[in-house]
Amino acid sequence: MKPIAMITGATGGIGSGLSKLFAERGYDLILHTRTNKEKLDAFKKDYPDTNVWILEADLTDKATLQATCEALLESVPQVDVFIHNAGLKIDGPIDAFSLDDFEAVMDVSVHGFIPLLKAVVPRMKAQKHGRIIALSSGIGYQGRADNVPYATAKSALNGLISSLAKELGPFNITANAVAPGLIPTEMTAYYDASQVETYRQGVPLRRLATPLDIAKACFFFASSDADFISGQTLFVNGGTQTH
Ligand SMILES: NC(=O)c1ccc[n+]([C@@H]2O[C@H](COP(=O)([O-])OP(=O)(O)OC[C@H]3O[C@@H](n4cnc5c(N)ncnc54)[C@H](OP(=O)(O)O)[C@@H]3O)[C@@H](O)[C@H]2O)c1
Repeated sequence: MKPIAMITGATGGIGSGLSKLFAERGYDLILHTRTNKEKLDAFKKDYPDTNVWILEADLTDKATLQATCEALLESVPQVDVFIHNAGLKIDGPIDAFSLDDFEAVMDVSVHGFIPLLKAVVPRMKAQKHGRIIALSSGIGYQGRADNVPYATAKSALNGLISSLAKELGPFNITANAVAPGLIPTEMTAYYDASQVETYRQGVPLRRLATPLDIAKACFFFASSDADFISGQTLFVNGGTQTH
């Protein structure tokens, strides 16, 4: 039987890269979307040898998320890897962004993650095996002006992952984070070309990351090569930020 990976935000720029790499490297997939099931239906057609279960859920619907996920998992034999990749970025100075926007950013990255973990972790414990990976961000470590909601959410993920590593290690479950630098996706489409170019010139490896770069780092944490690595954040940013 193939291993199975669950990926949130599987329709996005990085999520699509994760889905492709894990499918191409022999995984069956539970793919999550909020609004874009058609894209996942197309993915299924492109990867006919990959079993794909689709989880449709708005991560701001915290009251129903656990039950929705548990209902889907009843038809899934196991969950080997859970990658929480969905994210929302709403920028703005502290005196400009709305409390609703702040809540939404926190919900998608953090509060919506908890009910999904409550659905997945009991299965991983029963399997005595699991890999949990969260998409963090360098901004969650170094902060960024006008990015309080996003930086707060990603910083919270860091504490969550460190604590999960300590709590779940005795069950042979690891928890790690991958922190990318800037990658052109819908999330970062508000950067204009000159801002992106300025960023690129500051990257020691002189290029932007691709979704494949991030997917490879997540695959490493999912693989047996990372069996004894837990509670860590891997910065995948071409050397821009060291830790
Ligand atoms: N791009 C970067 O430069 C960068 C840098 C560092 C970290 N990251 C992190 O990497 C991850 C992926 O980012 P990306 O650039 O691939 O973003 P993206 O292309 O904008 O994709 C975001 C994904 O999150 C999902 N999502 C958004 N709001 C949601 C909600 N309310 N409920 C459920 N799902 C929701 C979207 O689902 P639907 O489309 O199905 O609605 C989409 O699949 C994020 O956690 C992000 O913070 C990105």
